Amino acid sequence: MRTQVGIIGAGPAGLLLSRLLQLQGIDTVVLENRSRDYVEARIRAGILEEHTVQTLVDAGVGERLQREGLPHDGVYLQYPGVRHHLDFPSLCGRRVWAYGQTEVTKDLISAQLDDGPPLLFGVSDVVPEDVDGDAPRIRFTDADGVPQVLECDAIAGTDGFHGVSRPVVTAGTSGRLWERTYPYAWLGVLADVAPSTDELVYAWHPDGFALLSMRSPSVSRLYLQVDPGERIEDWSDDRIWEALATRSALEGWELQTGPITEKSVLPMRSFVSAPMRRGRLFLAGDAAHIVPPTGAKGLNLAVADVTLLAGALTRLLAEGRSDLVDTYSDRALARVWRCTHFSWWMTSMLHRAGDDFDAELQLAQLRRVCGSEAAARELAENYTGLPVG
Ligand code: FAD
Ligand code: PHB
Repeated sequence: MRTQVGIIGAGPAGLLLSRLLQLQGIDTVVLENRSRDYVEARIRAGILEEHTVQTLVDAGVGERLQREGLPHDGVYLQYPGVRHHLDFPSLCGRRVWAYGQTEVTKDLISAQLDDGPPLLFGVSDVVPEDVDGDAPRIRFTDADGVPQVLECDAIAGTDGFHGVSRPVVTAGTSGRLWERTYPYAWLGVLADVAPSTDELVYAWHPDGFALLSMRSPSVSRLYLQVDPGERIEDWSDDRIWEALATRSALEGWELQTGPITEKSVLPMRSFVSAPMRRGRLFLAGDAAHIVPPTGAKGLNLAVADVTLLAGALTRLLAEGRSDLVDTYSDRALARVWRCTHFSWWMTSMLHRAGDDFDAELQLAQLRRVCGSEAAARELAENYTGLPVG
């Protein structure tokens, strides 16, 4: 088998890269080790920046997003006694959309299987090889158990945090890793109940952080700060609703409850691996970096990476010029670190940790964001997404 760009991993990063390259006339093959059902059911991010929406629309995969996505003009920041609305359009001229990552993935997979390049599910033993030369290859075993070799001009490692690509890059470069684990986790639930607020609520509370989000007019997505070692079996539906109601309580307002259809505990970490390239192997998305979800940045960063990477690979493979691939890692990392800072800042401001002194600092910061237009604008510009360049 031969292709121009071999793509490892069919998450949002790999699927969108394949789509963007296809539109530029570049051949790709996408290799995914899970099944289609598994990939489409994985519940993750829910907020899309304007840039992400525009990219999906321009790539011809935004039709359902434009029909079913929920435009949001802001978020609420809450601390005891206060629920303050930040209005993004007036602060920075941009907005965001609530549209689940599951839906983005389904739209990309269906476009790819309709008229796109090959997308192979259920492969195993994926190994990128000879990435330092101009003719790298990917060895893998296909879904029927037959060993295959995919000859490529370049390889994209979009195989997420636990993938095989990053270790190959780190082993062959004098790169660096940075990591921060946080002393808390999120318990996330999906519930068949209409959202209780028109926009997301990020709530600071002495018991811990809570986030009220949504997937559609009839499905809510809700999160609670819990200990990292928390066992999901210890959280009955009643206990979850009670904690959510306490942490988001506001006079004259009530949290609506309903059947919980999914619950899980998610670890929180920041992680950056540099460089994002070794020879002809390029990393994008969670393969190279992880942010805690408080800033809603993970999926959007993956999209920003592949936007840069698609341009760089097109220039290399269609025009024979290496200038953009040579600067890809530095350009992507500049945005990665901005979003890493923003995600760390939101996380640190909103989660209970430390002592009462820390709590007062957090409240002082929240009052500042809610009381100063300059401070609110800083949050709004970062949350809605800074330009990709
Ligand atoms: P992924 O979505 O991880 O895709 C990588 C793909 O590669 C997967 O399909 C995987 O099966 C495949 N793969 C892995 N190894 C191999 C291999 N060896 N061979 C072939 N294929 C391989 N972000 C938010 O903004 N908000 C959230 O609420 C949120 N919640 C999250 C919850 C969880 C549990 C996780 C893990 C992430 C969450 N994120 C969230 C982050 C966001 O979902 C990611 O940033 C986003 O999925 C990144 O996309 P990606 O394509 O880079 O990686
Ligand atoms: C979500 O809806 O899953 C979501 C929204 C905002 C976040 C994180 C997750 O910051």
